Amino acid sequence: MDYFPIFLRLANEPVLVVGGGEVAARKIDLLLRTQAQVTVVAPELIESLAEKAHAGVISYVSGEFQPELLDGKRLAIAATDKPSVNAWVAHQAERRNIPVNVVDDRELSRFIMPAIVDRSPVVVAVGSSGDAPVLTRRLREKLESFLPQRLGDLAKLAGKLRPTVKARLEHAATRRRFWENFFDGAIAGDVLSGRQDAAGQNILERIGNSLTRFAKQSKFAGEVALVGAGPGDPGLLTLRALRALQNADVVLYDRLVSDEVLDLARRDAERIYVGKASGNHHVSQEDTNALLVKLAKAGKRVCRLKGGDPFIFGRGGEELEALAAAGIRFEVVPGVTAAAGCAAYAGIPLTHRDHAQALTFVTGHCKGESDNVDWAALSRPGHTVVFYMGLSQLETIVARLREHGAPGTRAAALIEHGTRPTQRVVTATLEDLVHKAAEANVASPALLIVGEVTRLHDTLHWFNARAVEAASTDDEGRLSA
Ligand SMILES: C[S@@+](CC[C@H](N)C(=O)[O-])C[C@H]1O[C@@H](n2cnc3c(N)ncnc32)[C@H](O)[C@@H]1O
Repeated sequence: MDYFPIFLRLANEPVLVVGGGEVAARKIDLLLRTQAQVTVVAPELIESLAEKAHAGVISYVSGEFQPELLDGKRLAIAATDKPSVNAWVAHQAERRNIPVNVVDDRELSRFIMPAIVDRSPVVVAVGSSGDAPVLTRRLREKLESFLPQRLGDLAKLAGKLRPTVKARLEHAATRRRFWENFFDGAIAGDVLSGRQDAAGQNILERIGNSLTRFAKQSKFAGEVALVGAGPGDPGLLTLRALRALQNADVVLYDRLVSDEVLDLARRDAERIYVGKASGNHHVSQEDTNALLVKLAKAGKRVCRLKGGDPFIFGRGGEELEALAAAGIRFEVVPGVTAAAGCAAYAGIPLTHRDHAQALTFVTGHCKGESDNVDWAALSRPGHTVVFYMGLSQLETIVARLREHGAPGTRAAALIEHGTRPTQRVVTATLEDLVHKAAEANVASPALLIVGEVTRLHDTLHWFNARAVEAASTDDEGRLSA
């Protein structure tokens, strides 16, 4: 971050604007919204500024900029059409440690002004450190259309209520729940839609009733959201997952959860890693279950984030059983499982009228002879088989499939780091899969897809130019069975 984002209180504070034209006028309009005491210095003023000066809204110093005019000022803006004057103003302001903005000159500016959406007291500022002003304007337009016009009314109402809420609800956690309930609830909806005047008697009564309900609840029951974080790309998170993440006091996550997804949690939420650490210390499933119960019993809202979908090879069921046994409330938010995410991002349709009429997800943690996997069924043609956690068992998987009738020409693909910027796809046949995986040094997490649909990757791949095209060596035509 090149610029520190702050909101500066300027009410009754002296600010110098150098320049009397249109650009200066726009900056002055903005400054006046903050009740700043604006002095403008320029040989002459455009009409709108002259009127303001005449009405005493701003002070006017007629003439050229003099460095002494900066003395005692909180902020300075150089907005003349003469670069040498602007540079002189910037230099003098810097000497006095007064933050200065030079219009359209980021090098000379100590601060720059963001694009804003003003729903005072709510102000949204968007900046690109000066790199992409058109982009910031586009973002502002989007925010303008998205943020309710009466957002300011709601914020003002909240501001008025704050002392009462603080006095009536002793605990910070209770107050936070009250506010979340307030902003998500019917009262806020009525204010935002204009159905109820924010100062209306009915609204105040309803708020009073809500406060009474919250004040009676001395302790809040904790709860757990078991959330599927998807295979990595944060864009694959569901809206419900995002909400659970942002409501959580504590987030428990493991190795498969990407940093980008974790970044979406509330900034002050506690983050606890419960996966395998690099030192190979492993938090056991029992410890994780116990921690979930403990946190919920302490009244926390816990988001248990799991890679992919929590109910697909995720041991989510075991965690919920522990919660159910302890009488803790929970919800489950499904996620995009690795098979769906990786296949989509690799351009491999898992079923296809011509190539696969059945689809099976299997754990690759199979032991060969002694496992319960129906290898004969998985080896049949017209079937796509997705192996999770299959990388370390690649040789066994290939051997079992071939023993049960799958031909060496059966196509397969390994997808490493699926949906992430580092995604790689290695395509092969059962005959050369182990060799190609070793050659490409495929690493975990990786998903194995076996079936003729994987041949479609060649024509349908769309994501990530870095994909490794380790095409199969068979020359019978990629799409023939
Ligand atoms: C313990 S399972 C968890 C599966 C997860 N619950 C899901 O629904 O995707 C872990 C396996 O999922 C697969 N996997 C998860 N994320 C992946 C990704 N981004 N790319 C490739 N494979 C992934 C790998 O096979 C990995 O060994």
